[in-house]
Amino acid sequence: MLDKTSPSLPRGMRYENQLAMIEGMSLADIAREYPTPFYCYSQSAIEQKMQACLKAFEPTGAKVHFAVKANSNINLLRLMAKAGLGADIVSGGELTRACTAGIAPADVIFSGVAKTDNELEYAMHKGVGQYNVESIEELHRINTIAQRLGVVIDAVLRVNPEVDAGTHQHITTAKKGSKFGIAYSQLDSALQTAATLSSINVRGLAMHIGSQITSLEPYSQSIQRMLHWLEQLQAKGFAIDRIDLGGGLGVDYGNGEYLEYSDYAELIQASFANYQVDIQLELGRSLIAEAGILVSSVVSTKQSSPNNFVLLDAGMNDLLRPSLYQAHHPLLAASLSTSARPETFDVVGPICESTDCFHKNYPMLRPNTGDLMFFTVVGAYCSVLSSSYNSRTLIPELLVNGENVRVIRKAWTIDEQLKLEE
Ligand code: LLP
Repeated sequence: MLDKTSPSLPRGMRYENQLAMIEGMSLADIAREYPTPFYCYSQSAIEQKMQACLKAFEPTGAKVHFAVKANSNINLLRLMAKAGLGADIVSGGELTRACTAGIAPADVIFSGVAKTDNELEYAMHKGVGQYNVESIEELHRINTIAQRLGVVIDAVLRVNPEVDAGTHQHITTAKKGSKFGIAYSQLDSALQTAATLSSINVRGLAMHIGSQITSLEPYSQSIQRMLHWLEQLQAKGFAIDRIDLGGGLGVDYGNGEYLEYSDYAELIQASFANYQVDIQLELGRSLIAEAGILVSSVVSTKQSSPNNFVLLDAGMNDLLRPSLYQAHHPLLAASLSTSARPETFDVVGPICESTDCFHKNYPMLRPNTGDLMFFTVVGAYCSVLSSSYNSRTLIPELLVNGENVRVIRKAWTIDEQLKLEE
C-alpha cells in the first residue's frame, strides 16, 4: 500500500528536503556508512502491517502464520514471533530459523511438496504442530516415521482446487496437474488411507492457489470447492475441523493492483459463517514486501544506439524477481531534482547475462555516476533469492528503527566465500 501523501513511496518512507528518508534516516546518510548495494527494511512498516493484518482477520478467528520463505531473516522473524504469529515452513532450515526466533513449534505448519525423511524426523523431534500432506505416498511415509518415533501427529491434506489464480505462470500452484497438492479425485481415498494409519490424525484440508493474487474471485471459487468437499467428507463421517487457506495476497508493485486484508477477511467470514472450523492463513509477501528497499548506486550511464542505459551496482544476483518473473520494482532517486527533464533508460546491472535488466524504457531523470537509487517493494522473495553469482558479495541487510540502523545480515565477501573452498 502506498503512502497517500507521497504516492510513489512505500509506508515508512518520505522525502524530506528533497532527500529520501526511511523512518528517521536519510538514505544518503545510511549509504555514507554502508557501501551499496544493500537491502534496508523499516521496522515500523513491518509492525504496522502485522497489526493491520491481525486486526483485519480477527473477526474470522483465523490464526496467521508467516510464510518464512518470503523473508527468513532471523531478526525479522523475531518481530513476527513478538506479534504472536505462527510460521509456515518448507524445510528443516526454516524450522530452525522459526524456532530460534522464538516461534513455538506447536504454532508451526510444515508445508512443502517433498519433505525428506530427515526433515520430517527433525520436525517430529521438535514437536511441529501441523503437517500439510501433499500425497497419499507422503501419508505413508509420515506415518512410518511417526510410528518409529512413537508420536501421533496432526495433519491436514493439501487439496488442489484446480482454479486459475490469475497470476504469473511461475507462481500459480493450483492448476490441474500441478505438482502441488492432492488431486481432489484422490481426496476420498487419501482420507480412507489416513483412517488406517495409527500415527496420523487428519484434522482438515488445506489449499494454496498461488502468489501475488490481486482478485478475490479465485479465492472465492476455491473456498466454495473446499466447502463442498468439507460437507461431503463430514457427511461421510470424517472428523474435519481445520481449514488452512494458504497465502497469496497480492501487493502493489506500482500499478495500483493489490488485495486488501479486510476484503479477504469479509469473504472468509461470509463463507465460513455456518461451519464450525478453525481457519489458518499462511501469509508471506503481503506482510513484508512493502517494508523493504534495495539501495544501489549508479556506476555509469551508457549510450549504445538506439538505447540509453543506466548501469547500477546491483545486479540480478541481488534482485532476481525481474529476471525470473518479469517483475516490476519501481526505482526511485534518493535525492530529488527538479531541474532536468525525464528521459527513458534501460536500467541494468553488472552481471554477464542479458536478462540482468530491471527496467526497459524506464522514464527517469538522467543520473550521474555515484547517484543513489532505490528499488521499492523488495521485502519479500528478494533477499532470500539473492546469490553471489559472478563471485559477487552477497549483499547485507539493514533494519531501520527510528534513527537506529542495524546490520541484520552481514555481507558475505569474496574472501569469506573462498575460505569455504580451501
Ligand atoms: N503457503 C504455501 C504453501 C506457499 O507455497 C506459499 C508461497 C505461501 C504460503 C505464501 O504465499 P504469499 O502469501 O507469500 O503469496 N518467489 C515468488 C513467490 C513464490 C511463492 C511460493 N509459495 C515471487 O517472488 O513472486
